[in-house]
Amino acid sequence: MSKILVTGGAGFIGSNLVDKLINQGNEVVVIDNLSTGKKENINPKVKFYNADICSLAIDEIFKNEKFDYVFHLAAQIDVRVSVANPEFDNKVNAIGSYNIFKNCGLNKIKKVVFISTGGALYGDCLKPASEKTLIQPVSPYAIHKYSAERYLELCYDLYNLDYVVLRLANVFGPRQYSGGECGVIGLFTYNIANNKSSTLYGDGSKTRDFVYVSDVVVACLKAITVKQRGVFNIGNGKEISILQIINVIKKIAGKKFIYKQEKNRIGEVQRSVLDSAKAKKILDWEPRVKLEQGLKNTIDWAMKKS
Ligand SMILES: NC(=O)c1ccc[n+]([C@@H]2O[C@H](COP(=O)([O-])OP(=O)(O)OC[C@H]3O[C@@H](n4cnc5c(N)ncnc54)[C@H](O)[C@@H]3O)[C@@H](O)[C@H]2O)c1
Repeated sequence: MSKILVTGGAGFIGSNLVDKLINQGNEVVVIDNLSTGKKENINPKVKFYNADICSLAIDEIFKNEKFDYVFHLAAQIDVRVSVANPEFDNKVNAIGSYNIFKNCGLNKIKKVVFISTGGALYGDCLKPASEKTLIQPVSPYAIHKYSAERYLELCYDLYNLDYVVLRLANVFGPRQYSGGECGVIGLFTYNIANNKSSTLYGDGSKTRDFVYVSDVVVACLKAITVKQRGVFNIGNGKEISILQIINVIKKIAGKKFIYKQEKNRIGEVQRSVLDSAKAKKILDWEPRVKLEQGLKNTIDWAMKKS
């Protein structure tokens, strides 16, 4: 059993990770300011701090709790917010992350796993992007997530802090929709379950690499035990267009998909797909959940909530 901090543990991916860590018998602490996370997502067995990762409260929490491991997921995740308010995005995603990593270093945490983004970092992908692909961020969000990766590398130099970075593709699954902006599958499944209209930005030909949340949780667990420090892409390796997603959602839900079309938004790439061969080789990680099964689970969850 280990004592583990999950920042962002009231959010979509974080809460799914927390549940798994608790099931494995770990002692889990969550830091989350509930800006997009939900109280109802927080596992009743965790100790919860309603705190901002940018605040001084973080120093005290680290000093008092003495964690073995840290998963850092708390983030401002909305690309549009990052375009409209880059200072705020920088504060949370770059400086706030550094605040967490610095505390990990000062308090001699055994390892930190930072959840970064693959979908946004590599720009338009003509073929699956590996970890060696040139970084070409197309939004302030991507720039600041990459800054956080660099801060983490700095903390390795300064404090010998062991770390793994997971650059995730587009994640989907239960709990994604929390009432605001989220991934396209989260929005579409929520809308179809509630007979609401969706908005399609562009003509639907944009492609994404979709990975199911339980596969991401498995990657997080493997990141803790792997000996090698470094960066790993976590994706399915398959390009799926938004129109293809709509068709599968319609079929599974057995309902009409009502939508209006608008022009593409700034900060979004046309094609995004990750090469996760390194994760397969070193983490022994591969995606297991098929798109259709993952979508069915997500739609079932959205229907139950509707
Ligand atoms: N969902 C995806 O497709 C995807 C893809 C790539 C990377 N990621 C990364 O995964 C992580 C989790 O994202 P998610 O999809 O679960 O989103 P989410 O919004 O559900 O989770 C983020 C959590 O962080 C919390 N938070 C935000 N700002 C905070 C602050 N200043 N202090 C404390 N808590 C704060 C929110 O309340 C929320 O609970 C993020 O780091 C995100 O960048 C997500």
